Formats: sequence, structure tokens, C-alpha cells
Amino acid sequence: MKIIKTTNYRDMSRKAANIISAQIILKPACVLGLATGSSPIGTYDQLVEWYGKGDLDFSEVTTVNLDEYRGLPRENSQSYYYFMNEHLFQRVNIEKSKTFLPDGTEQDSEAACRKYDEIIKSVGGVDLQLLGLGHNGHIGFNEPADAFAKGTHCVDLSERTIQANTRFFASEDEVPRQAYTMGIQTIMAAHKILLVVSGEDKADIVRTAFFGPVTPQVPASILQFHQDVTVVADEAALSKCSGIL
Ligand code: GLP
Repeated sequence: MKIIKTTNYRDMSRKAANIISAQIILKPACVLGLATGSSPIGTYDQLVEWYGKGDLDFSEVTTVNLDEYRGLPRENSQSYYYFMNEHLFQRVNIEKSKTFLPDGTEQDSEAACRKYDEIIKSVGGVDLQLLGLGHNGHIGFNEPADAFAKGTHCVDLSERTIQANTRFFASEDEVPRQAYTMGIQTIMAAHKILLVVSGEDKADIVRTAFFGPVTPQVPASILQFHQDVTVVADEAALSKCSGIL
């Protein structure tokens, strides 16, 4: 695991965007695994800026996102499809037909998850997977559990995750209680993983996940076993790791 320390969120975003750019330049027809949340927004903004300057071309890129709320249609402003469209897809020359997320409107969980696993397989797997980190160590929506989930599955969101995501909704009642998420096996099968994390509120989980024991109770800890993980973290997120790094 390579840990890159940055001064702040902006610096983190630029460095992460540089890594994604390198992937697109080296392999224009790559498959990017993408994430939502506040952490990658600056990274997407930077990619959009470089696209605007003519330095990046998304025309051959395929994307598969980590997760989607169960029950939210694409038009809902809180859906992850809407988020991706706002922050990246509609701002660059990516082909919409090559952008994939689990179908939140498919009420049959098994069908939704099976279909998404088939899509990931059909695009040939993920070259570079971008991740954020939840306060309880979740990646995608893989919540702390007794075992690592393999493929795409439907999860009941933990109380902590519901609370953390309430800031995006009018009230806590409106936060969906379930989501479809890529499983740990799919995430671990990505050739490269890039995790972005910033802020002092993530300092404890950064230490626990990347320097503590590997356990499904801290889903991100499994990344310690991946052979090509880069964590781009700001000083605040690494503030509890002094003496280890
Ligand atoms: C959300 C998303 C995750 C994200 C995490 C952290 O619940 N499903 O993919 O990484 O929470 O979000 P943030 O970056 O806003 O802290």
C-alpha cells in the first residue's frame, strides 16, 4: 500500500486526478470504477478542468460506479447517477452509454445485483477503482459485517451511514435505508485501487483500516491485501498515523 500525504483537500484532489489522468492517457479505452461522496468531488473537478484544456479525452472510457441507493430513480437529485452526471459525466466527452451504475429502480434485489455483476464482467473488469472511505470503514456501501461480501449485493445501511448521508437530504427520514453496492471481491479484483480521504474526522478510521487488523468489521482493511493500492490522504486524515508512517 502506497500512502501519499498531501497538504489539504485541494492538493489531494489534484494528485488523485493526476493518477486517473495517467490511467486514461496510458489506456484510453480503460474501465474506471468511480465513487460518490464528498471526497472525490475535487478530483472530478480537476479532471473536468484538464478536459477543458484539451489534456484529457474520455471518449473511449467506460465507467462502473460502486453503488446506488435502492429505490431512487436517476432523475432524483440524491441518486448517485444524478451525482455522477452533475460532477463528471455531463461535463466531459464520455459516452453516456458507457457509464454504468446499479439500477436503483429495480425492486428485485437479486436481479439488480446479478445484472450489475454481468455488466462489470462484460466490460472486462475494472482497471482503476476510485474509492472514498466511510467513517465506519465502509467502501462503496460495504458496511461492517461478519464476512466480506463478494459480488454486488443489497445492503441495509448502518445507522451511522444514514446519519452521515442525512446532510444531502431534507431530513433523515428521506435517506434510503438500502443500497446496491459492488462487493469486496469485485473491488479487490480491480487492477489498481486509488482511495482518497481527507479531514480530521477520518483520522481514526484511516489508522484502524490501514494499520489495524484485516477484518470484515472494518471493510476497507481488506485493501491491505491488494497488490496495487494508492491512498491519497491529506495531513488531517493522517494525523493519527504519525509514528507509523
Ligand atoms: C458514502 C458512499 C461511499 C463514500 C462514503 C464516504 O456512503 N457510498 O462510496 O466513500 O460514503 O463519503 P464522503 O466522501 O462524503 O465522506
